[in-house]
Amino acid sequence: MRFPGAHILSVTQFERADVERIFEVADSMRPYAHRERMTKVLDGAIMGNMFFEPSTRTRVSFGCAFNLLGGEVRETTDIKASSLTKGESLYDTGRVMSGYSDIIVMRHPQAGSVAEFARASRVPVLNAGDGPNEHPSQALLDLYTIKKELKSRQQNIDGMHIAMIGDLKHGRTVHSLSKLVSLYEKVKFTLISPKELAMPDTIVEHLRQRGHEVVETEDMETGLVSNDIVYLTRIQEERFASKPEADLYRGRFRLNRSIYTQYCQPNTVIMHPLPRDSREDANELDNDLNQHPSLAIFRQTDNGVLVRMALFALTLDVSEQIDKSSREVNWYTERRF
Ligand code: CP
Repeated sequence: MRFPGAHILSVTQFERADVERIFEVADSMRPYAHRERMTKVLDGAIMGNMFFEPSTRTRVSFGCAFNLLGGEVRETTDIKASSLTKGESLYDTGRVMSGYSDIIVMRHPQAGSVAEFARASRVPVLNAGDGPNEHPSQALLDLYTIKKELKSRQQNIDGMHIAMIGDLKHGRTVHSLSKLVSLYEKVKFTLISPKELAMPDTIVEHLRQRGHEVVETEDMETGLVSNDIVYLTRIQEERFASKPEADLYRGRFRLNRSIYTQYCQPNTVIMHPLPRDSREDANELDNDLNQHPSLAIFRQTDNGVLVRMALFALTLDVSEQIDKSSREVNWYTERRF
């Protein structure tokens, strides 16, 4: 695909070569994300960070990524504080906001909303999550993390075995990640969920049509065996009609140190898009795995900055100029990455 000026709305826009290009640029962002060097390549540029649903890491890491490239961030974080509550359309909002920014990042609770907004925007729009539909930047950072974790074990994405666990019906991260992984070869997907929260049939069919093996099961213990990656998800309570309905499934699938040791092969990488639900009745990923070397959840969040910097650099076409406007930082920067 051609990146400069493009909206990033769905992982279906990408070919494998596009994904590899994003990862190459993400690698080049490491000295900047790790505060070894600084760049002002986006000096004067403005990013509109519009979040109409709660977020911690996507909103803040997109903001930091833009700041790390030298740009400024304007945030809109509450739908009630926006004129959308007065009946203004997403189209009008997109047309207006694109006059104030050079690029826009948007999260919204409705599937398709970010694409509707983007149709009116005169600047690139990056989808930061549209309801249960897609979360492309999360899928990219997840796959980037998978690639790094497998490389450290002398393995590749091609041929890997991945288990996805939890609310696969409403989880936009697993929707985007499975479609993105489908660009690779001969992957085995084990989809572990209650039947009512299974991965949408269209996605399962897509994976099979691309030649991947897909196993669907409600049995977590057998599903955990012989995977390279286990990717857990939270029950997406906000997508259910009521809390009691979500409560039916909360806590059904849990990974802790004892289950991991008993059923997973040694070195299986443990991932979660976060937030994990750490309340007692949920706790799908237990704190007793926090110090486990195969727990990659905080490497995922760190990698989010690199991947989001890469998306800005490519869509604003500055990926070749970053080093030219860079210098060493002059503050204390020792970090433990
Ligand atoms: N993974 C993710 O989207 O997290 P936030 O909801 O905190 O942005």
